Parts: sequence; C-alpha cells; structure tokens
Amino acid sequence: MINIGIIGLGTVGSGTVKTLVKNKEIIEKRLGFPFMLKKIASLEYDKALEDLFPPNTITQNTEELFEEKLDIVVELIGGINKAKQYILRAIENGSSVVTANKALLSTYGFEIFKKAYEKKVDVGFEASVGGGIPIIKAVKEGLCANNILSIEGIVNGTANYILTSMLEEEKTFQETLKKAQDLGFAEKNPSLDIDGIDSAHKTAILASLAFGTVLTAQQVHTEGIKDIEYSDLEYARRLGYKVKLLGIVKMKDGKVDARVHPAMIKEMETLAKVDGVYNAITVRGDIVEDTTYIGQGAGSFPTASSIVSDIMDISRNIEYKTHLRTPLLSFPFQHIRKLSTVDTNSLSMKYYLRFRVVDSGGVLAKIANVLGNHEISIKSVIQLGHGREWVPLVLMTHQAREKDVKEAIEIIDKLDVVKGKTLLIRVEENEDVG
Ligand code: HSE
Repeated sequence: MINIGIIGLGTVGSGTVKTLVKNKEIIEKRLGFPFMLKKIASLEYDKALEDLFPPNTITQNTEELFEEKLDIVVELIGGINKAKQYILRAIENGSSVVTANKALLSTYGFEIFKKAYEKKVDVGFEASVGGGIPIIKAVKEGLCANNILSIEGIVNGTANYILTSMLEEEKTFQETLKKAQDLGFAEKNPSLDIDGIDSAHKTAILASLAFGTVLTAQQVHTEGIKDIEYSDLEYARRLGYKVKLLGIVKMKDGKVDARVHPAMIKEMETLAKVDGVYNAITVRGDIVEDTTYIGQGAGSFPTASSIVSDIMDISRNIEYKTHLRTPLLSFPFQHIRKLSTVDTNSLSMKYYLRFRVVDSGGVLAKIANVLGNHEISIKSVIQLGHGREWVPLVLMTHQAREKDVKEAIEIIDKLDVVKGKTLLIRVEENEDVG
C-alpha cells in the first residue's frame, strides 16, 4: 500500500484528487498494487471534496499531514518559500515528493534534488513544464539515447492565446489581454505569463535536463510579448511567418543558449500551427531528429494527468524497493556540469525590425544607411498605409550579428525621422539535422 499526502487543493490539487478517485481502478490495475490518499492539507477548498474521502482526510492543518507516515508528499500550493519548506521537510522525513512548482525548481532545484539524492527519495516534476504533456519523461527517458541538439517550445498557453487572438480578431495587445482575463485564461496580475517569466522557469528546467546542468530561470534571457502589435502579426503573416513566444534551448560552443522571446517561425512549421491556449514543444535529438509534443499546458485535469503519472512512477519505485532509477536531472550527479550561458549579443540570425517613422521621402535611405554601416543586409521591406504622425516601416534582414543589429537600432532610434522605439523580433530557422 502506497500512502500519499497532498498539500494544496487549488485548481491543480482538486484535479489531482478527483483524478485519483475517478480513475482509482485503472490506476491500481496498472500499478498492480493499491494506493491510499491518506491526508490532504489545504487552507481553502471546495467542501464538496470532503464527500470523496473518509472523515478527517482533508485538514486545514498541514502539521497533521506531516504526522502521517507518507510514502509520497505532493506539493501543489505553488509559490516559493512555504513550498520549499514543505518539500525539504517531506524529503527529510524520507518521503518522495511530486510537485508542479516550476518557479521553485528553476530557482532552488539543485538544493532540492541534492537533498533527495542524499535521502534516497524521488522527486517527480512532470507537471512543471507543459501541463499535461509528458515532456519531462520524453527528455529524461524516451529520448535518452540522443544528444539533445535543441528544444523549442510554446510553453505558456496564456501568451499563445493572446498572440493567436490578436491576429484572428485584429485586436490590440491590451484588448486581447483584457479578454483573456475576462475568460479566466490570464491572471489579474498577468506578468508571469506576458513578460515571459513563466516560460523562463520552464525553459530553465528543460535546459537543465537536456544538457545535464543546473540552469536557473535568472540565467534565461527573457523577453515578453507586450510590445507586439497586431500589425506585426499581420506583417509576419504576409512574409510567411507566425509570431510565437518561444522557450529556446540550444548548445553553442560549450555554452547553453537559453532564451524566451517572441520569435518568427515559418508558417509551415509544426509549432506555428499550434494556436490558442495549447502548448507545443519540439525536441531535436541527433539520432531521432525532431519529435513534437502538443497538448494542454495548463488546467486542472491536464496538469493532474502529469502529477498522477509521477505518483504512479514513484509508487512503482517504492513497491519494487528502488529509488532514483531515472536520475532527477536526467544525468547522475557525478555528471552534472556547471555551464555558462550564451550572451544574446553573440547570436547571429535574421531579424524582423519594425520602425516607427514619419511618412516622407528619404526615410528608408537614412535607415538603410545606418544598417549598411553595420554590415546588415536588407532582405525585404514593407510599408503599408499612410499615417499622419508616423507609419510602421518593416524590414527583414539577412543573417546578421545581433550585436550589430542592436547598435544600429540605437542609432536609428535617435534619427529625427524615427518616432518611437524600434521593435526587434528574432527569426528562428532551424537547419536540417545532419
Ligand atoms: N500560466 C501558465 C500558462 C500555466 O498560461 O500556460 C501554468 O504554467
């Protein structure tokens, strides 16, 4: 019998307990042995959940949960400090842990994993990236024969919904954010989603697993989607691209290239076709080449699917008297390396540049002159419509060095014909594997 405790009965916690109740039969059939939800601790919860369990199973006092002898403690309260305390305490007590807490793992992951390693217990965190998509297992197990060459993903459903709706409904960023909040997709404080922070948490975790390192979210170059306008999405469409907020993980000259930013991707690419709240992650391995995983990246039941899968995995380890069969960070501790990260100035790719300029003759020549002086070659130019105050002027560059592009923009933004900050979107084009 595997005894389980759950801390937190919010959206994900409720989905998890309902899944464990609804699918108890198939879960136990698959396991070949029983489990029991021994204690659930939550300050607030839907009282109807009490009917699913024997009396006193749910408590508001987390101390009661820690008085039980638990094989697995599931942390679903989110946030950093309390969650970290509970997780470390559970590990200290000899319990394995399951968590969906990407903010915590992408900041204090190493400390938690090291403690688990010392205490010979497991930590499952499938739900921390991609909600219901089993991406952690794919990277750690399914693709373990490969050198991982890159991971690129839409790992934030809220941002993907906003970019999709802006284009479909021809609306501004602010109008679309408001609609997403009204529909409950975006939080009242949407910063984590729209500023790319949540994507950076997930990208740090994926980078760590891909390369056997411990990358923190703070090391991920992070830009959000606030500066994207409807017209950018429309121009991108005319040029044969989609704009997506991507988490990108690559290895470049022995350094980790880990970034979150809006990116233009060719419209025929799989990720470009994943719209709305969906997440999608493409992992490129040297042996398998590209595999893409698409699904719901958030929500009560999709996330619960991943949490219960971790619970089952760890239950099997406990039942068969093993632990850490799959290394927590995908590589055993002796192979975890400290790697430095790539400075975005050293990147080289194509760029989409949108300038706000006065609508008069000679403007393009002035801008082209600065770009030329920085060895940036123009691939195409679009200017649609006339404006009184300013008009958008859009350029696609050929391959250029980011350092040069940024220096050129700094000069261009000071020209008298330029009436606002220039927007830069990186064009992500993958070479064929080979
Ligand atoms: N807020 C996230 C999203 C889900 O919008 O995808 C939780 O990671």
